[in-house]
Amino acid sequence: MQQSQFPILRTKVYDRPLIYLDNAATTQKPQSVIDVLTSYYTSLNSNIHRGTHYLATAATERFEEVRRKVCSFINAADRTEVVFTRGTTESINLVASSFGERFIGEGDEVIVSAMEHHSDMVPWQMVCERKGAKIKYIPFSDEGVLDLDIYKTLFSEKTRIVAVNHVSNTLGTVNPVAEIIKIAHSHDVPVLIDGAQSVAHIPVDVQALDCDFYCFSGHKMYAPMGVGVMYGKRRWLDEMPPYQGGGEMIKDVTLEKTTYNELPFKFEAGTPSVGDVLGLGAAIDFMLTEGVENIGRHEMELHDYAVERMRNIEGMRFIGTAPQKAAVISFLIGNAHPYDVGTLLDKLGVAVRTGHHCTQPIMDRYGIPGTVRASFAVYNTRDDVDAFVNALNRIVPMLS
Ligand code: ALA
Repeated sequence: MQQSQFPILRTKVYDRPLIYLDNAATTQKPQSVIDVLTSYYTSLNSNIHRGTHYLATAATERFEEVRRKVCSFINAADRTEVVFTRGTTESINLVASSFGERFIGEGDEVIVSAMEHHSDMVPWQMVCERKGAKIKYIPFSDEGVLDLDIYKTLFSEKTRIVAVNHVSNTLGTVNPVAEIIKIAHSHDVPVLIDGAQSVAHIPVDVQALDCDFYCFSGHKMYAPMGVGVMYGKRRWLDEMPPYQGGGEMIKDVTLEKTTYNELPFKFEAGTPSVGDVLGLGAAIDFMLTEGVENIGRHEMELHDYAVERMRNIEGMRFIGTAPQKAAVISFLIGNAHPYDVGTLLDKLGVAVRTGHHCTQPIMDRYGIPGTVRASFAVYNTRDDVDAFVNALNRIVPMLS
């Protein structure tokens, strides 16, 4: 049913039907999202928050409507806590830079998990280098489970923030973020959650989690590329300085001094990607119609079915076998290079991702160059899994 809503899935690659299993990198877009983009540029395109003319007012209203939609989707307490960005990477850079400017000083400490995507590791390394602060990493087990006993010992008087992903893009681990946040809060330390890999698969309630920041991208949840969200609690956002200077983020500018706009505009310098934000609104509508829990359940059924079939393949080695997982399967076959496996699968029409997945420290932890990664979305089917596993069975003899 859902497949028919995604025109790209009718594409043929090398004259074969496309089997798209690279959803952790980006999901495909339903027709409703594509239609919103077309209609925005056909009949609504205008700069927002600035003009008094009809189009500017209409576009502003639609843009702010999506902010309210996101607010309700993640159950934020107030729409002013929802800041639009270009994606998870920009959201985390915003927090690392602005929170870091205000709250991280020389000799301070930041706790980051060792299974973060580079986008939730490098910004912290950059701010720590700039400020003379230090990073402590939470290690993880061979299965890909964070060691919370060690985590508890990493706190000191100097800890300023904890950053951890909700779901690992490489291992698929669903981290116990509620517990991680509770432990940090018992030390009065705020927590940033990288939600890039969770928000399309797990219902997210930022108030129930009590996280201080929650960052995610639209393009991994059926929305266009170029839009993301930084959710932050007002108590932090009020005190953090702007990330970028420019139009929209100001209240008054004189030659001597600038005063800043109210939230969330203080963090939204320049013209946003209005059409993409409207596309995010349509993607949220799509997800709510399907039901986020239903989507997650469907994907995990495919995951479990795929793992069960893949186990029979000689030389199969799974990387990331935590008991709590999302529908991401990282694997290696014998000594074959992941790139070779990915290239052969591609020739059979199966799109997977290969490489270090922007998590080089995870590869170092296992002493491997990379993995092959298959990841599922709402539109995947058991037929896709069968096509994928059959393709694997076909290429295994070629690998040896
Ligand atoms: N972060 C994206 C991935 O894991 C690109 O594939």
